[in-house]
Amino acid sequence: MQKELVIIGAGGHGKVIADIAKWNGYQNIVFLDADKSKKNCGKYQVIGTENMLADLSGDIIVAIGNAADRRKIQERIDRSRIATLIHPDAFVADDVIIGKGTVIMAGAVINSGAIIGESCIINTCASVDHDCILSDYVHISAGAHIAGTVKIHSNTWIGVGVSVSNDIEIAGNCVVGAGAAVVQNIAIPGTYVGVPAVCVKQRKQSSLSDFQ
Ligand SMILES: CC(C)(COP(=O)(O)OP(=O)(O)OC[C@H]1O[C@@H](n2cnc3c(N)ncnc32)[C@H](O)[C@@H]1OP(=O)(O)O)[C@@H](O)C(=O)NCCC(=O)NCCS
Repeated sequence: MQKELVIIGAGGHGKVIADIAKWNGYQNIVFLDADKSKKNCGKYQVIGTENMLADLSGDIIVAIGNAADRRKIQERIDRSRIATLIHPDAFVADDVIIGKGTVIMAGAVINSGAIIGESCIINTCASVDHDCILSDYVHISAGAHIAGTVKIHSNTWIGVGVSVSNDIEIAGNCVVGAGAAVVQNIAIPGTYVGVPAVCVKQRKQSSLSDFQ
């Protein structure tokens, strides 16, 4: 029987995920997208919107970069159908725990003792070092490096090329802008940029609660 995958979100991120799925043995790959005008994503067909999900068989992955949107859709899906995808050219130590719906792109390195939550994105050539804990819906963008024993709470987006020093804790619902260096804990949700990273925008929702 052919391995089937439904990918929700027919953008660039979805295209990369389809390629990883192919390397994971999926032969029948289709996309769903809220934008009805989309007909193709790379070489794969966009066959309808999320409303079609109940009529389709196979595993499902949500390929939407925005954490809040990803969460909204993922929470509506039958958990038993959610896929987890790891590119064959990623290195993942054998004791690493990875949650459902998470994707790990080519060249990523996840070292021993790390725990990665549900529906996280560990993007191209990012690294997550030993004993890090990433909560659900965290995105580590391409080329970002997270040193050992770092905790990152849910929904936080670490931008491209960011460095996070060891033993740091970062609140949920944060954005760490491209190229920043985080060398101190971040306790207040908001946007942080620069070297060293400083807050340029605060958010109201708080969350250092997801590991308690
Ligand atoms: C931090 C970020 C989210 C801010 O986006 P934004 O809210 O739209 O902010 P703006 O682009 O309007 O910039 C506001 C100010 O912050 C500065 N700024 C924005 N991003 C910055 C960054 N990464 N580092 C330093 N300064 C930055 C801008 O130069 C601007 O400064 P000014 O007011 O003096 O002109 C965005 O710039 C960013 O870095 N996104 C990450 C992109 C990424 O990693 N993509 C990877 C996808 S896998």
